[in-house]
Amino acid sequence: MGETFYITTPIYYPNDKLHIGHSYTTVAADALARYKRLRGFDVMYLTGTDEHGQKIQTRAKEANQPPIEFLNDIIAWIKDLWTRLDISYDDFIRTTEERHKSVVAKLFDRLVKQGDIYLGTYEGWYCTPCESFWNERDLVSGKCPDCGRDVSFVKEESYFFRMSKYVDRLLQYYDEHPDFILPESRKAEMVNNFIKPGLQDLCVSRTSFDWGIHVPEHPEHVVYVWLDALTNYITAIGYDSPDENEREKFERYWPADVHFVGKDIMRFHVIYWPIILMALGLPLPKRVYGHGFFMMKDGKMSKSKGNVIDPKLLINRYGSDAIRYFLLREIPFGQDGVFTPEALVQRLNFDLANDLGNLVHRTAAMLHRFAGGVVPQKSAYDPVDEALVGLANAVVNDFATHMDEMQFSVALTDVWRLVRQTNKYIDETAPWALNKAQNTDRLNTVLYTMVGAIRIIAVLLLPAIPRAAAAIVEQYSFKPAETTWDSLFDYEAFAAGQTVEQGQPLFPRLEVEKEIEELMNLTHVGSAIAPSVEPQGEAPKQPTETASSREETSMIDIDTFHQVELRVGLIEAADKVEKADKLLRLQVNLGEETRQIVSGIAAFYQPQDLVGKKIIVVANLKPAKLRGVESQGMLLAASHGDAVHVIEAPADMPPGAVVS
Ligand code: MSP
Repeated sequence: MGETFYITTPIYYPNDKLHIGHSYTTVAADALARYKRLRGFDVMYLTGTDEHGQKIQTRAKEANQPPIEFLNDIIAWIKDLWTRLDISYDDFIRTTEERHKSVVAKLFDRLVKQGDIYLGTYEGWYCTPCESFWNERDLVSGKCPDCGRDVSFVKEESYFFRMSKYVDRLLQYYDEHPDFILPESRKAEMVNNFIKPGLQDLCVSRTSFDWGIHVPEHPEHVVYVWLDALTNYITAIGYDSPDENEREKFERYWPADVHFVGKDIMRFHVIYWPIILMALGLPLPKRVYGHGFFMMKDGKMSKSKGNVIDPKLLINRYGSDAIRYFLLREIPFGQDGVFTPEALVQRLNFDLANDLGNLVHRTAAMLHRFAGGVVPQKSAYDPVDEALVGLANAVVNDFATHMDEMQFSVALTDVWRLVRQTNKYIDETAPWALNKAQNTDRLNTVLYTMVGAIRIIAVLLLPAIPRAAAAIVEQYSFKPAETTWDSLFDYEAFAAGQTVEQGQPLFPRLEVEKEIEELMNLTHVGSAIAPSVEPQGEAPKQPTETASSREETSMIDIDTFHQVELRVGLIEAADKVEKADKLLRLQVNLGEETRQIVSGIAAFYQPQDLVGKKIIVVANLKPAKLRGVESQGMLLAASHGDAVHVIEAPADMPPGAVVS
């Protein structure tokens, strides 16, 4: 077994669906895990869920469910998300699992016995959404300084962790390990904002709710959620487990090579977590990388603003590779960036469909046209070939440097230097002209050199866009030995002579403006049924959304439901919307009026088949324009996998009848 590499994501709060911002950390960690595996490391990639605390208890109560049942549904949704995004985690820890709970209870007890944790009384402020304690001086206009929401004053008996005792050792660790806090710019913020003003002892238990791990000696106390959560990084890999194999695993992987976290939870990871580990006598993680935030135009994503983007919706429409590429490429890791439909569509179109997709497709097409679909042997290189080979070598080295530095966006830019240069090489060497001139030797060398570049590009893309990269490897029949990391250092490390499939384009080319408009409707309005745009090649093999996966959406009360006005409508006319191949325009009789409704069901129904059907219409939806045509309502339809069926009302109900 090779050298180990242990990488973690934060464990997510399963109080709600995860959004695209959460997927960001997990995709980045996945790309790094895959890269390290490619380089021969024995990787342990851990993710999971942080399931205790007041917030979860309250949400479960609102949903009228026992907490664990409430959680199970959301965890199923989260795991399904990771499957769809091709996340190759090695383990998924839930803090409600016995392997975690028993170790945390024991560890708490030990820290009490050795005097690092003591009993006292906490008086101060608490932010439940962040599960964070705050001093009066930390609050900003009386609100939580992290999330800006209301805080509540709490006074309760609590256990405290003697953080202050370890501060000097912590600062010394920072000095001796300049790579511990990454990007480096975050270090000053941690020291100046949290350590210099005087690190206070941390309150580590709560008594005002009971959904958590109970302190063995004092069961009315539950372990404070952050102490519970942080320890997942060691309990998951067998710390203090009764099972010897598990304990060996811990010896093997600890300390972690890197914890990936968002910048908002950096202080828990670079201050409290190292101190807890010091108290336990364990080595500290090598690095903590605090990445930036994916924002929306109107600021931070939040449920209350209604500006969160459901990653499943994007994956269904574009496939997982497209979303992974966008997340990794669009924003330099460490910085904040804004999500816009324009940026997404342009990245997919220009980088994936035009540059990469086109290169792979045109090369295969030329191999078929000029060489019977078989990669020919090369003769001597010309300077133009040597230049491409030289660039490929440089790109492999740059890519490795940037991946090691966790600069995913730069590493992808490196690969695209080779993608673009290979396209240019083809334009310059003009294989079609060589073919016409029957200059077979030269033609063969050029075709060989093109395939050589594609091999290197495909291997370098395995970590970021694993499906498309594996599809290229398959299409070009590269053998396992030709797709190893070491093989990248020899341009000619593949035996010519293999047959290449003609294949289909890897990524669909999108009509930019139309797609942006649809994406906006889909993400913000969601009023039209928008069938997925499937790549013309292999459709993304994504599991379909299950009923249980939807159950975790916030429950609504009956009054909210009654705000939706549902009525029976009779379709009196239907036609296609010009230049919009997915949309139908329907004239629907609602009793006292006729409404025009535009619906994205053209792929499933012929206009004439709909006329005369009685359907159910959302009658009080704000009008919206779809491809320039006004839609004055929405019809209900059921969808499952690729099938969509309009819901029909009973035949004896007149148009306008209320549905409730
Ligand atoms: N449960 C804690 C973490 C415990 S780790 C021992 C938690 N959970 S969370 O679900 O609220 O957030 C998880 C991660 O998602 C955090 O790293 C947070 O920074 C990240 N993100 C949440 N929204 C984000 C964006 N909009 N953009 C990028 N990352 C974001 O905190």
